[in-house]
Amino acid sequence: MKKFIAGNWKMNGSLAANEKLVHELLDRVGRPSCDVAVCAPSPYLSQLQCLLANQDVIALGAQNVSQHESGAYTGDVSAAMLREFGVRYAIVGHSERRQHQAETDTNVAIKAKRALEAGITPIVCVGETQRERDEGLTDYIVRRQLAAVVHLVGPCISEIVLAYEPVWAIGTGKTATPEQAQQVHAILRKQLQAATEKAHTIRILYGGSMNASNAATLMTQPDIDGGLIGGASLKADDFLAIIGVAK
Ligand code: PGA
Repeated sequence: MKKFIAGNWKMNGSLAANEKLVHELLDRVGRPSCDVAVCAPSPYLSQLQCLLANQDVIALGAQNVSQHESGAYTGDVSAAMLREFGVRYAIVGHSERRQHQAETDTNVAIKAKRALEAGITPIVCVGETQRERDEGLTDYIVRRQLAAVVHLVGPCISEIVLAYEPVWAIGTGKTATPEQAQQVHAILRKQLQAATEKAHTIRILYGGSMNASNAATLMTQPDIDGGLIGGASLKADDFLAIIGVAK
């Protein structure tokens, strides 16, 4: 399966910084062996749509989508709106949103469904906190988070990208070992297999302090099909190095 490297810029960037970063990426990325996307803050989607026009190497992603279709939801951005700006992917259920915006498993599942309905591939994030891991709850948590999405989208589950992001590894410099990550990815793959015959085609990304030096080893694991990259996606050298080892 072709690997997938997605950058999650989070709440970073500016018109000038985005332009510089995207130009550097486009100048140097060549024809990578993997699929690539950058997930930008909403106000920059229009800028990014222009910067990424006339090429098909780097796709555009958003970092969230409303669970509502349209109407009186001040501050929300709908899937249909994202689509108008050439958005192909939308991260849903990132742990920072589950934590700070109190998004529940059900909210996340509805968001995934809305994205799919608009022709956007949701990148569904699951992952346990340090405390949950310490208490031996990792499998239970990630299975519960994925189950909500499987339950709501049914057979369309084969259209999603899944990302395992242990919360304790995000932005901490503390990466899951390839074995730790593979163990959880295998559990998720098994759960997908129970839901669809196409489970082997669903990409399961790892995210959490993935960088140029650990990416290759993580991606040699049988069920790690790419990465969701935060900090390292803001530096052209690092992001390109990760893309380079994603084969
Ligand atoms: P990080 O973030 O690579 O900075 O740890 C990953 C993510 O939150 O998607």
